[in-house]
Amino acid sequence: VASASRIRATDPGSLLVASNRGPYGLRLDGHGRGARVHGSGGLAPSLAPLVAAAGATWVFATSGEATALRADSPDLRLERGRLVPLAFDEAELAMAYDVVANATLWPLHHHLFDLARAPRLDRHWHRAWEAFSNYNERFAEALAELAAPGATVLIHDYHLCLAPAMLTRRRSDLAVVHFTHTPFASPCAFVEVLPEQQARALLRGLSAARACGFHASRWADAYVGCCEALGVQPAPTFVSPLAPDPQRLAARSHEEGVEAARRELDALVADRKAIVRVDRIDPAKNLLRGLWALDELLESSPRWRERIVHVVLAYPSRERLAAYSAYRSELERLADALNAKWGTSSWVPIVLDVRDDPSRSLAALERFDVLLVNPVRDGLNLVAMEGVLLNRRDGVIVLSRHAGVADCLGHAALIVNPFDVHDTAAALDRALAMEPKERRERAEQLRGAVETYSTQRWLDHQLEAAHRFAPA
Ligand code: F6P
Repeated sequence: VASASRIRATDPGSLLVASNRGPYGLRLDGHGRGARVHGSGGLAPSLAPLVAAAGATWVFATSGEATALRADSPDLRLERGRLVPLAFDEAELAMAYDVVANATLWPLHHHLFDLARAPRLDRHWHRAWEAFSNYNERFAEALAELAAPGATVLIHDYHLCLAPAMLTRRRSDLAVVHFTHTPFASPCAFVEVLPEQQARALLRGLSAARACGFHASRWADAYVGCCEALGVQPAPTFVSPLAPDPQRLAARSHEEGVEAARRELDALVADRKAIVRVDRIDPAKNLLRGLWALDELLESSPRWRERIVHVVLAYPSRERLAAYSAYRSELERLADALNAKWGTSSWVPIVLDVRDDPSRSLAALERFDVLLVNPVRDGLNLVAMEGVLLNRRDGVIVLSRHAGVADCLGHAALIVNPFDVHDTAAALDRALAMEPKERRERAEQLRGAVETYSTQRWLDHQLEAAHRFAPA
């Protein structure tokens, strides 16, 4: 196994990482200095310590005021390794990131299209596709320039699925691995919806990598199925779920703000049971059906009225897209309506908090009696794993069978069909009523399962794939 520690001895040009997002957001403060703001999602925070420890080069996209930072700015320094932001014009980046990556590829891979209306692949979309190609091309150019001879390049996610072919065309000496963090669309959805030219370009782009990694075998199979359907030779695949780093989580639980968040949550929940969820506000996360399930639970099991609090920590995401802002409004309206329906003078059943507050999320993951993770479809779902490691109450996990993490935790969680609100309400009921002995046993099994994975193991699998599939 080529481990990160072996790579460490050499220069930052021997291991490169590329992703849309960098380790943190950058804003300029009033004095023209960079101020770091924490980034969204699970990928960038997971990569950051690995890139720093391995002394790698991390290439990512920026636009707007952060592009004014000088290349030698201390804000672009990691403890080891280097950060290379690629500056994009905001309108160009919006076409690549908003229109193609998030309004086309994301719903495609998550099977979210309302096919009577979307996607609308009109002339604007085709222009956006050009921008998406250029965006991938810019990454390929930068990586080709920065990489030492024979270097390993780890390219992440659906934003950069054209880049492997563009890079290997420039530098055939590089060991390029692509890792997809989303699900992969079924061949039927992929082939029927995308124009053939773009569908082929995406698959050829990925397939030029030495290997393609996924969080679950069903996503790897779907990628191979899409390739077979379009006659593209797939790259070898490997499956390696990402997992949180227990030490990093433990350190975060001592950070400023967490103790105050714990106290606030204790006061809010008091002696009731807490059903918690922590998600970006994204239609793929299935927040509306979560609330419908709570409604059905309170209807069909009156014993839980006044005895539970549903803590929904849902932070805004991709709000420039109408589908996301509309989804957020719908969520807020539904939570208000259900509180009006079920609440009493001394009880608010749903506490919806849309602040992006990592301390609060951490405190809630320590505190849950039940964690609801019910995505429509999800590449992995790191929150479920973080919940397992952080929770202090033998909390039960109600988990969608369409989340990649169900392959790791399915035996000890309560698995639900995320579309079946009735099934989800029944699982919440079962979880709330579960005897302490069964809760303890399940929590131990969940911890045992998560501890078999790690962030380092995930990185090592990518490095191993880069070498295992080297041409003879
Ligand atoms: O899980 C897929 C992913 O794109 C991650 O790469 C990222 O952490 C997350 O979704 C959040 O998305 P965005 O970067 O668009 O906020």
